[in-house]
Amino acid sequence: MKKKAFEQRIEQLKEQLSKASYAYYVLDEPIMEDEIYDHLYRELQDLEQNHPELIRPDSPTQRVGEYPAKGFQSVKHFVPLYSLENAFNLEELRQWESRWQKLVKPPEKNIYVCELKIDGSAIALTYIDGILTRGVTRGDGISGEDITQNIKTIQSIPLKLNWINPPHRVEVRGEAFLPLDEFAKLNQEREQKFANPRNAAAGSLRQLDPRIVRQRRLSFFAYTLHITESPQSQWECLDLLEEIGFLVNPHRALVSSLEQVELYYQAWETERKNLSYLTDGVVVKLNNLDLQEKLGFTRKAPRWAIALKYPAQEMPTVVKAIAVNVGRTGIVTPVALMEPVQLAGSIVQRAILHNQDRIKELDIRVGDTVIIRKAGEIIPEVVRVIHELRPANSISYQMPDCCPECAAPLSANETVIRCLNNSCPAILKGNLIHWASRDALNIFGLGEKIVEALIKAKLVQSIADLYQLQLNQIAALDRMGEKSAKKLINALEASKMQPWHRVLYGLGIRHVGSGNAKIISQQFASPELLSQATIEQLKAIPGIGNEVAQAITHWFSIAAHLELLERLKSLGFSLKAQKIEIEQTVTPFAAKSFVITGTLPNLSREQAKSFIEKYGGKVTETISSKTNYLLVGEKAGSKLEKARNLGVTILSEAELMEMAGSELVVESKETAL
Ligand code: IVH
Repeated sequence: MKKKAFEQRIEQLKEQLSKASYAYYVLDEPIMEDEIYDHLYRELQDLEQNHPELIRPDSPTQRVGEYPAKGFQSVKHFVPLYSLENAFNLEELRQWESRWQKLVKPPEKNIYVCELKIDGSAIALTYIDGILTRGVTRGDGISGEDITQNIKTIQSIPLKLNWINPPHRVEVRGEAFLPLDEFAKLNQEREQKFANPRNAAAGSLRQLDPRIVRQRRLSFFAYTLHITESPQSQWECLDLLEEIGFLVNPHRALVSSLEQVELYYQAWETERKNLSYLTDGVVVKLNNLDLQEKLGFTRKAPRWAIALKYPAQEMPTVVKAIAVNVGRTGIVTPVALMEPVQLAGSIVQRAILHNQDRIKELDIRVGDTVIIRKAGEIIPEVVRVIHELRPANSISYQMPDCCPECAAPLSANETVIRCLNNSCPAILKGNLIHWASRDALNIFGLGEKIVEALIKAKLVQSIADLYQLQLNQIAALDRMGEKSAKKLINALEASKMQPWHRVLYGLGIRHVGSGNAKIISQQFASPELLSQATIEQLKAIPGIGNEVAQAITHWFSIAAHLELLERLKSLGFSLKAQKIEIEQTVTPFAAKSFVITGTLPNLSREQAKSFIEKYGGKVTETISSKTNYLLVGEKAGSKLEKARNLGVTILSEAELMEMAGSELVVESKETAL
């Protein structure tokens, strides 16, 4: 064959192979068998090997660079890569609309393009005379890293534009991402797991060896086109991007009002869960490019676009360890410590596992890949374990037999496991923090850190010891000085005048919340009187049930508790009952209305309803502006969104318990980040 003929054949092969890749990776409609593709590819490879001078950068054989790069070069973007401003609810979206409408006149129709916000890594591509010449990471938006070799391994990015007379320079921006199935496969093979698909995509793109990147099977959605003679609108740009060979997300919408944007956002909130890649919101862009230009940019983001984020996502992460937390009532709560992940606006690295039964049910083990989510955006929890990704020879988790804080044997005769050692430092710490808390003795300056330091220095072994602390002892503690020590002594002194119901609540008797303590203090106006109360007498008080009554009589049957009260009295506590308008304060939920949604971790719907009613609340079916609280469990439905929009307070089961001042099913807040 003459050189000309080689050249022609090479061109032909390149074209056939590019068409085949495009059909396979972009259109998802293969046009040739894999074997035929491989055969043609090998023919091209052979021809190029014999005629290296004929190798062009747009040849499919150039999708994989031969050698690992030594590092990446920092290069300047031709057009800065801006970020987006975020809106976290529809109200913020509306505020954005009124902001831009003050600056330019809104068009009659086709105002916005709605696109899904793909959770990946932004990439800037440069095509010179139709050939991919550069691929750069976002970096700081002004400069990024030149990762062209790696970009070329992404099959849905054309090496050559499908454009007969392309403009000299074409800039394309979009999101490189790792489809969920590829993410799962990748993590299965890796010892050190990626926390989520976004990290995996970003990490892969920065791999020095393009052969490894190729195995990762990243994909790319294009969403921005910069050319000199550009179409008039974003909508047309997206169509053009598709025409010239890019994968453009098909779920876009051209809309004429903010109401339509809201409908799009709401529809995709559920529908996005069926997609094979992660999305974290909706990007709303003004369609008209003239208006975009007029509006321009703030320092960081365009004024003509906004990202409307979805809350409460589920995220995969990896369990590094399972620890146990000992709360103030001695309940031992298992907690999963995980690779940190971004979840609904915060970084999460601990998730509550509730109890041994839940651990068994999940069969969660160290090293497992798990899906976590925030229940009503409050407490992260493990939704499920991806058993397929379990590392070999992992062992099932056993709760400890001894308290991790004081080594006392744990009791496990209820569904919960407890440390029964009264002087366990974890219990003491919880008790002291509770004693100082706002609704109890309200001791300003006695926070977690000081309490920890006092226990560590062995200065305090019981609540009463707080009141015998000397100024110099406190001042000598880490991060304390004489001034703050003095303040603390004064605050402790002042707390002795707190009324009896606050002391009663502060004692931390199981099931005695601040509401209950008030009611009880009206009937039994001093510690002496209460210590003699029988279960029947207590149960006769409206709003006080059997559990509370039993807990109180049990507490007073313990000699150490009576001694504590004696000591408090001799320290100068007034312990006087205060007259309270019970009508208004009878229960913590008095006159409050609740709606329940989703499956709660411990209570059934019926149990939750009677619990709320017992504490004076009312449960209704539908959310309205009159609803005070939404109690949220797993698989919460549309009520959650509605509650957020109406500004209704969202509660988890544990928070409900806490509000009622009842035993916490989820032991303490500090276990949840
Ligand atoms: S447009 C100047 N459209 O979201 C406007 N961004 O949080 C630039 N993203 O940095 C962005 N999907 O990495 C745009 N359909 C989409 C997007 C999208 C995902 C990413 C992009 C951007 C980040 C901002």
